[in-house]
Amino acid sequence: MKKLLFAGLLGTIITAGATFPMTAQADEASDNAAVENRKMLMDGIGGAMGTLGCYMKGECTLPDPVLANLAKGIAFSAGAAPAAFEPQTPDATVKTTATADVWTDWDDFAGRFPELQTAALALADAVGDKGAMGAAMGNLGKNCKACHDEFRTK
Ligand code: HEC
Repeated sequence: MKKLLFAGLLGTIITAGATFPMTAQADEASDNAAVENRKMLMDGIGGAMGTLGCYMKGECTLPDPVLANLAKGIAFSAGAAPAAFEPQTPDATVKTTATADVWTDWDDFAGRFPELQTAALALADAVGDKGAMGAAMGNLGKNCKACHDEFRTK
C-alpha cells in the first residue's frame, strides 16, 4: 500500500516536471544568481570608487592605508571579474545592463579587466601624493567608462 502511494506520488511529480520543466527553473535560478553575483562585484568596485572620489573632492578625510586598500580592493575585484562574467545568462529574469556583446566579444571584454587591475594598482601606488592620485583616478575612471559605453545598455 505504501509502495503504491509512493508510486502515485512519483507519477504526480514526474507529470508536474513535464508541465514545468525543472531544468528551465534551474536555469533561471542559476542565471539570476550569476547576474546578482557580477552586479555585487561591480557595486563593490563602484563603492570603492565613490569613497575614493569623496576623498579626492576633499569631502572626507581618510588615512593613506585605507585609500590604498580601496584601490587594491578594486584591483582584486578586477582579477575576479572575468570568472564572474563568464557564465552566459540567457534565462535571467532579474535586471541586467550587460549586453550580449560581453560574450560575443569575450576576448575584448575580458581583456579589459587586467587593464583595470593595472590602473587600480597604479592608484594604490600613488597614495600619499594627491596630485598623482588625481591622475591615476582619472585613468582608472576612463577604463570604467570605456567598457560601460561598449558593453552596457544605457
Ligand atoms: C571590462 C568591462 C567593465 C569595466 C572595466 C568596468 N565595468 Fe562596471 N559593469 C560592466 C558590465 C558589463 C556591467 C553590467 C552588469 C550587469 O548588469 O549584469 C557593469 C555594471 C556596473 C555597475 C552597476 C552594478 C549593478 O548593480 O547594476 C557599477 C556600479 C559599475 N559597473 C561600476 C564600475 C566602475 C566604478 C568601474 C571602474 C573602476 C567599472 N565598473 C569597470 C563592465 C565593466
